[in-house]
Amino acid sequence: MKDIKKLYFSSYKDSFPLKLYSYKGVNFLIMKVDIKKIKAIQTFELRHPLLRKGQPLSSCALDLDDDPQSFHLGGYQNKKLVGILSAMPTPCPDQKAQNGIQFRAIAVHPDHQRTGIATQLIQKAFLILDEGHRPHHIWLNARIVANTLYIANGFTPTGFPFDIHPIGTHQRFIKRMSYES
Ligand SMILES: CC(C)(COP(=O)(O)OP(=O)(O)OC[C@H]1O[C@@H](n2cnc3c(N)ncnc32)[C@H](O)[C@@H]1OP(=O)(O)O)[C@@H](O)C(=O)NCCC(=O)NCCS
Repeated sequence: MKDIKKLYFSSYKDSFPLKLYSYKGVNFLIMKVDIKKIKAIQTFELRHPLLRKGQPLSSCALDLDDDPQSFHLGGYQNKKLVGILSAMPTPCPDQKAQNGIQFRAIAVHPDHQRTGIATQLIQKAFLILDEGHRPHHIWLNARIVANTLYIANGFTPTGFPFDIHPIGTHQRFIKRMSYES
């Protein structure tokens, strides 16, 4: 979280919002997305086509969706839901004694991918957890196509790639958290 530094923000009538960031000395612009907490069921709009395509809508429901410690983030541009992320109180399987959070069901609308939305959702979730739950670690099972996204956000691969039927090959990632005070 601390690796990415916001340098500048501008907004042109909210229609072309940009942020200038610096990551390890390299400056880059990303589209600003308004991120807010939403209900699990609101995420189905993107969970279904992007993560459960061809499966019944009920397959979108996740066990801890309604746990009081879970939260769901929706990223909006021009009032349209363009990205989602869910965070749930589950420790990583090899860290069961610890207070861990699992990120699940991260997805960005195809028209908005590679514009930094998933990164902003992840960074917002870090911020919320830093201000509240303060987990020992955050982990996730990533589709291997998205490996770079998680590495760029400070996660480390752990264990070997594995298959989750019928979705495909996944890699587990973990990020051990540290807090300033
Ligand atoms: C994976 C996904 C969530 C990424 O969202 P995104 O908003 O496009 O990601 P970002 O723009 O924040 O990407 C940041 C960096 O991650 C990497 N990255 C993201 N998606 C990538 C992809 N499909 N292939 C390779 N690298 C990728 C890139 O390094 C990217 O930086 P760059 O665009 O400057 O090269 C999105 O592509 C998606 O919803 N895919 C379909 C559903 C899915 O597979 N979800 C993943 C569950 S683990």
